Amino acid sequence: MEKKKIILTGDRPTGNLHIGHYFGSLQNRVKLQEEYEQYILIADVQALTDNFNNPDKVRKNVMQVAIDYLSCGIDPNKSHIFIQSMIPELAELTMYYSNLVTIARLERNPTIKTEIKQKKEVFGNDGKLVTYGFLGYPISQAADITAFNANVVPVGEDQEPLIEQTKEIVRKFNSLYGDVLVEPEIMLSKMSRVKGLDGNAKMGKSLGNAIYLCDSTEEIARKIMSALTDTTKIKKDDPASPDVCMVGYYHKLFSGKEQDIIFKECKAGHRGCVDCKKQLIKNVCEYLAPIQEKRRYYESNTKLVEDILLEGTKKAQKTASETMKKVKEAMKINYFE
Ligand code: TRP
Repeated sequence: MEKKKIILTGDRPTGNLHIGHYFGSLQNRVKLQEEYEQYILIADVQALTDNFNNPDKVRKNVMQVAIDYLSCGIDPNKSHIFIQSMIPELAELTMYYSNLVTIARLERNPTIKTEIKQKKEVFGNDGKLVTYGFLGYPISQAADITAFNANVVPVGEDQEPLIEQTKEIVRKFNSLYGDVLVEPEIMLSKMSRVKGLDGNAKMGKSLGNAIYLCDSTEEIARKIMSALTDTTKIKKDDPASPDVCMVGYYHKLFSGKEQDIIFKECKAGHRGCVDCKKQLIKNVCEYLAPIQEKRRYYESNTKLVEDILLEGTKKAQKTASETMKKVKEAMKINYFE
């Protein structure tokens, strides 16, 4: 039997997952687990680089993210779901790789650059609050990827510079110490971004413009009722453009074939926004119903979720320790063996 290629992906456990995660990556992971050996990392260590002062938030969301994964169809018999901090080899590798990366290179990483800029906007200082741990998280991400010999890393565009940095670390390591690490390929998600309810290009927790997979019918209704629509449409029967309307945008994701009629009626002025929103609410709720039903099952069986995480972590640990052994040997720090 041919050996399956290995995939590694992950998320920071800083909140529940939303429909942006679903269409941008979770759906894809459910497919990929059929073809690849898939490791899915709940990146609590990375989450702490930004949330070191809020450990409760990270702790709570590890379980929440695991439940979101399982509810969406990630199958623990096919994918290994594990917790980053439970694999100490990842911290060890990060330490060794950190010699191979200059501070200037980290500061030039476009993802890091953007995030530092955002931090400055929030904290209004000249970056003095940027910690060593934060600046170094691309190195820790390289450890996440290489520890499991990942061939492929499916991520959105914003993560591309991080994978590029991983590739550089791999090449540097292999040229210095011998051919040990696997250089990963990036698999760019076709739909890396789902727009927010307010029309923002990104749906995000911090932007308050997300529909979460676990939102109740009332929450979904409230959010969709306040979504951005075509601002030129004043009266119920004014013709409008569904292409500049967030309700139209989500109909494309959730309303299947109905979408054509909806768009036609909207353009012709035969469709009021309230009705259109109500129809979207119904379709979103129907779409999410099976996911939410599974969520209720896992929420009342948290022991099962813990067992799945333990099992996934055990497997991840085994792979990481094999890589660690090779790395130490290559670096000549394999004493007394
Ligand atoms: N940086 C990713 C995010 O913010 C999470 C992550 C951590 C990750 N380690 C990874 C993604 C390794 C891919 C591969 O969502």
